[in-house]
Amino acid sequence: MLDIRIERTTNPKQKPQVGQPLPFGKIFTDHMFVMNYTDGKGWHDARVIPYQKIALDPSAMVFHYSQTMFEGLKAYLSEDGEPVLFRPDMNAKRANRSNERLCIPKIPEEDFVQAVKAVVQVDQDWIPKEIGTSLYIRPFIIATDEFLGVKPSKTYLFMIILSPSGVYYANGMNPVAIWIEDDYVRAVRGGIGEAKTGGNYAASLIGQVKANQEQYEQVLWLDGIERKYIEEVGSMNIFFKIDGKVMTPQLNGSILPGITRDSVITLCKEWGYEVIEKRISIDEIVEAYQSGKLEEVWGTGTAAVISPVGKLRHEDEVMVINENKIGQLSQKLYDTVTGIQSGKIEDTHGWIQRVND
Ligand code: COI
Repeated sequence: MLDIRIERTTNPKQKPQVGQPLPFGKIFTDHMFVMNYTDGKGWHDARVIPYQKIALDPSAMVFHYSQTMFEGLKAYLSEDGEPVLFRPDMNAKRANRSNERLCIPKIPEEDFVQAVKAVVQVDQDWIPKEIGTSLYIRPFIIATDEFLGVKPSKTYLFMIILSPSGVYYANGMNPVAIWIEDDYVRAVRGGIGEAKTGGNYAASLIGQVKANQEQYEQVLWLDGIERKYIEEVGSMNIFFKIDGKVMTPQLNGSILPGITRDSVITLCKEWGYEVIEKRISIDEIVEAYQSGKLEEVWGTGTAAVISPVGKLRHEDEVMVINENKIGQLSQKLYDTVTGIQSGKIEDTHGWIQRVND
C-alpha cells in the first residue's frame, strides 16, 4: 500500500462550462499524481500535487531512446453521483506487461490502482456529467537518467494526469472511414506492438497522414511480415460480424490486448454469438464483403469506446459496410458498455470499482 502525500492547489482552474462540447485530451485538471523510482530504493515519494510543468534535463533518456509506457482508462459518474472506474485492475496488469517489455520496473497492481483512485478522488469534481463524456485518465512512466548510452535507465517518473473529455473521434458515433495500409507497417511479432508505448504510435503517424490525405480518418494495419493479416487500428482493436459470427484478430504479440476488446468478447459470447479470435486475412474480409456476408465492422478502445466503421479501403476495393450506418450489434455494444460504465445497466461482471471505497 502506498503512502500518498496530498498537496492541494491553492489556485484552482476554471472547469469547462457545462453544455459546451468537450474536446478529447486537451483540458487538464487541477492535480496530478507523481512517484519516483531510483535503482536500489524502488518506487518512492508517491504524491498528488497541483498540476504543473515538469523540468527534465535534455539528456533524459526518454527523449532519446523512448523508454516509456502509458495507459488509458476513464472515470465516470454513476447514477448515484459516485465516481467509478472501469476495470482498472486490467490496466494495472497491462501496464506491467508493457513495463516488462520495455525494461521499466514494475508497479504493484494494487499500488497502480490506489494511485489512480487517489488522484481521481482529489479531482472528482472534474468528472463531466454529460452523456458521452468522462474523465480520461492517462498514467505513464518515463526514463529520466541523464545519459546518452543505450541501456535501461536507473531512475523513472510515474505520473497520472486527468482530462475531462468528450468523444475521441470528432464525428462522434458516426461510422469512420478506414484505410487499410499496404505499404508501411506498425509492428512485428517479437517487437513492441503489444506494449502500450509511444513508439508504436510514432510508427503509425505516417499511415495516418496518408489516410487523411485520401479523406480516410484512421488506418487499419496489416501484419508486418506477410502484409496480409489484419492487426489493429492503432487507437482501437477491430471486430467484424460476418454471416452472424463475430471475429477479431487473435492476440499475437504485435497487437494491443485491449480492455474494451476483452469486454466486448465477453458480452458477445453471453448474447449467444460465436466469437472467433484468429488470424484474419484481408482476402477473407474482401470475400465476405463481395458475397454480402460482411454485416458490421467496429473498433473498440478506451478512448474510442465502440466505433462503427462505415468504409474500408483496400487497394482498389472500397467496401461500404451496412450502408455506412451504425450496425445493430455495434449500437447494442455501445449502449451496454457505456450503460455499465454509467451505472444505468447492472454490472454483473464486477467491472466497476468505486473510487471512494
Ligand atoms: C486509449 O484508448 O485509451 C488509448 O490509449 C488510445 C489513444 C490513441 C488515445
